[in-house]
Amino acid sequence: DKGGWSSFMAKEITEQPDAVGNTIRGRVVDGAVEIPELTELGDDRLREIDRIIIIACGTASYAGMIGAYAIEQWARIPVEVQLSHEFRYRDPILTDGTLLISVSQSGETMDTLMAVKYAIERGVTTVSVCNTQSATIPRESDAAVYTHAGPEVAVASTKAFVAQITALYLIGLHLGRVRGTLAADAQASAVAALDALPAQVAEAVDTHEQIAQLAHWMADTRSVLFLGRHVGYPTALEGALKLKEIAYIHAEGFAAGELKHGPIALIDHGQPVFVLVPSPRTAPVMHSKVVSNIQEIRARGARVIAIVEKGDTSVLPYADDVIRIPLTDTLFEPLLQVIPLQWFALELSTAKGLDVDQPRNLAKSVTVE
Ligand code: F6R
Repeated sequence: DKGGWSSFMAKEITEQPDAVGNTIRGRVVDGAVEIPELTELGDDRLREIDRIIIIACGTASYAGMIGAYAIEQWARIPVEVQLSHEFRYRDPILTDGTLLISVSQSGETMDTLMAVKYAIERGVTTVSVCNTQSATIPRESDAAVYTHAGPEVAVASTKAFVAQITALYLIGLHLGRVRGTLAADAQASAVAALDALPAQVAEAVDTHEQIAQLAHWMADTRSVLFLGRHVGYPTALEGALKLKEIAYIHAEGFAAGELKHGPIALIDHGQPVFVLVPSPRTAPVMHSKVVSNIQEIRARGARVIAIVEKGDTSVLPYADDVIRIPLTDTLFEPLLQVIPLQWFALELSTAKGLDVDQPRNLAKSVTVE
């Protein structure tokens, strides 16, 4: 049941406030994050962790990349993110202090399952972030931290992605608390950001109308670029993946700082570029660097679509379109910024007359290696 929407993807985009809210629910107690499934692993075990490897594919891997920033910041544990299908082939260094976190909406992705099994065989502690109750990966793992996004039907992942980021943040906050690396004020501001999130996600969902108009003139665009810095970088990768998947448009995401090392040569007159602009309040240095990037690409003819926090007027002279999202902390920006990018892919797919929910060549769950 599409609930009155033209596609499951549209419906699922609008369900994101609940996906986030339901993932948080019951896991914040007296202003602190506590995930019972992690508590069961034993605090001593959690304190012994000296390295985290996140494994996932596709959209889930971008959620993993975003989660890595937060876990490192709050729990002060080095985190690396590896694509599941690359993991085994590099003879990975796994020690007693390694924690492997898999991220999978379906919990059945064969590449990810095989990576988890490889780690289990070597005695590594495994935690599964999964959206599907009792799927194979969470059953095989030492602990399962479920996302509660509800069933996701559209092939292109949307609500599962924001729920995955949320779950990884909760894991970071839990680990930071247990390990004593999370300062009281950092915990308080993260918990406040989590509290505000569902309503803010709903506001970001309301960008739909603006994005639909934007997509209208771009219906025959052949290439779109996405730029971001810090957590905006994996968000840019996700925006590009959505567009490839359902609108069959060539798209690439870049770290904004990488522009001058090559990709800026792609910028030609009229090239559309989405730029994820970090908050000037919480990340002033990154903000000013991204604004410089906008000036550089604009001077070379790019059509700039800037996603900024409300009240940030710094890009107005250089951006062709400005999409505004609510004010939050830097780490939480992807959860809001990605939503207009999801709408954009959906609207371009629709404008091209494609099947939004069932893109060619793709399956919802990839159960072969
Ligand atoms: C993107 C998408 C895929 C999946 C990937 C992992 O929209 O749907 O990239 O994210 O195949 O799937 P799960 O999360 O089920 O392991």
